[in-house]
Amino acid sequence: MTRTLLLGLFVALSFAGLAQPAANRPTVVAGFPVNYQEDSVGTYTLPELLKSLDGKTISTAKQWTQQRRPELVKLFEENQFGKMPSRPQEMTFKVFDKGTSAFNGKAIRKQVTVYFTKDTSDHKMNLLIYIPASAKKPVPLLMNISFAAYNQTIEDTGLLVNYIWKDGKRIKADQPTVFGKMNVEQFLDAGIGFATVYYGDIEPDFKDGIKYGIRQHYLKPGQTETAANEWGAIAAWSWGLARAMDYFETDKQIDSKRVALQGASRLGKTALWAGVKDTRYKMVIASISGEGGAALSRRNYGETIRHISDPSRYLYQFAPNYHSYADNVASMPVDAHMLVALMAPRPLLLQTGSTDYWSDPKGEFLSAVAAAPVYKLFNEKGPETTDMPAAGDTSLLMNELGYYMHEGGHTVLPTDWTHIISYMKKYL
Ligand code: GCU
Repeated sequence: MTRTLLLGLFVALSFAGLAQPAANRPTVVAGFPVNYQEDSVGTYTLPELLKSLDGKTISTAKQWTQQRRPELVKLFEENQFGKMPSRPQEMTFKVFDKGTSAFNGKAIRKQVTVYFTKDTSDHKMNLLIYIPASAKKPVPLLMNISFAAYNQTIEDTGLLVNYIWKDGKRIKADQPTVFGKMNVEQFLDAGIGFATVYYGDIEPDFKDGIKYGIRQHYLKPGQTETAANEWGAIAAWSWGLARAMDYFETDKQIDSKRVALQGASRLGKTALWAGVKDTRYKMVIASISGEGGAALSRRNYGETIRHISDPSRYLYQFAPNYHSYADNVASMPVDAHMLVALMAPRPLLLQTGSTDYWSDPKGEFLSAVAAAPVYKLFNEKGPETTDMPAAGDTSLLMNELGYYMHEGGHTVLPTDWTHIISYMKKYL
């Protein structure tokens, strides 16, 4: 098996919770060594968060919102994720399951197809939604972006059998998946709705995915690749999440102003960028997002841009410009603390794992520490300490900029969901 396949299998297993990995610690990836020694991290200077491009010190929430924030969003578009198109005019929604009782009467289920284009044979995303049946008014919601089709991860016989991508082909999702089951009832019991989509409905997750996904629809005639500052797959998935929000705004049973977005790993990076770009999302829970997500890029620990940018790996997930920093991270005009700060003043929870070394949980903590001054401009709390919490310590979990590290690896554990629900109940 190739290294990529092995890593993929490992990721899949850890998600499924089948095997709790002792440590996510590959030592050489794509021929590049990976550092796990704190004393070899090296020194680095983060780009200044509170100084605008014209050299002004940003000292108020208003200056942040009006000047610095738009400036930084643009820099992330240009240099990391790539620009994405706006809402397509020809988009339509088809609610093909209009409200069926599910989970022994506990939920009302809806299934919606979002057609991104006029041609309804392709570029469509199936959205599954459960609303607590006891709700008397519009409900808050957890919107999850998933590696699997919803009929594979949720135990409900009324679900459409969807399609997934496997080995470059679209196949019927009628086989069990290695990805773990989602416990929907825990949200319903807390009075929170649950919605989910399969990321591959938006854009397939492989090198040539652009040939099939939504990005292909936007290529100009004769164009086969995106321009250097245009969307990679992560921005495409984020774009799909904005389209899910377009639907929520039309559904009277959902309080679209109280929707939290959650994803894990590459989909944690996606949730973060989607939440930054689409401020209609009230909250983001970025699970194990790592490099290109909440972990500092300048910190040489675990995965680096160099590893991501190797053509055998995740080049296609980012804007081509991002890869120009693979060998010169210090020249990048942004770093992850800025991405994290762009969520302010909306609540953001960073969920990590103590043995998920590849994702650098400490790099995510330091990112939150460096982003906290922006939350402070809004009188909100970030870590307010430089001492990293131990595995399982919940003391920083409930801040507006929250941080929590479970004991364990690259996964979202049942206890993480319990914490996420508490966090949602506090801030939604
Ligand atoms: C790989 C990749 C990470 C990514 C992860 C995942 O490990 O290097 O950047 O977060 O896959 O999506 O599981």
